[in-house]
Amino acid sequence: MAIRPVITAPDPRLKVTCKAVEKVDDSVRRLMKDMLDSMYAANGIGLAAPQVGDRRRVIVVDCSRDKKVPKHYCMANPEIVWTSEETFTYEEGCLSLPEQYADVTRPARARIRYLDEENEIRELEAEGLLAVCIQHEMDHLDGVLFVEHISSLKRNMIMRRLAKIKRLHETPAV
Ligand code: NI
Repeated sequence: MAIRPVITAPDPRLKVTCKAVEKVDDSVRRLMKDMLDSMYAANGIGLAAPQVGDRRRVIVVDCSRDKKVPKHYCMANPEIVWTSEETFTYEEGCLSLPEQYADVTRPARARIRYLDEENEIRELEAEGLLAVCIQHEMDHLDGVLFVEHISSLKRNMIMRRLAKIKRLHETPAV
């Protein structure tokens, strides 16, 4: 088990466009496992590879934490193949934007095609929180944070706040 630190904004590593994996092999499976460990350790419900400094198109989600049977998904090269016209608004947060929340509107349901841990092609139709979470994590693979879906006024406020927190916590380089 390896818990990797989650990168917080502002950071150029959160702005990268990730590369598709060729195959889900041991190296990708190790990344998925580390990401799950890191996500659970941070009390998150989703995590994308660039948040732990990896540029592969991999996400992990688990929106079942209150239920008896936990259910996580590890997805490589996730693609949205269908979304509903109907939308859903949810107050989103992000491990890379600690303590910051804002209402984001996205399609209420989405069908996702991806490669699972065994390199099998799968499709999942998600709704509710799971749909929100998968779409949010997929955005990270293209360098998009949830604040890019809100007004620039609110976004600038959040980003200024984060930059300030970062300055306060930064130790001088030696
Ligand atoms: Ni996020």
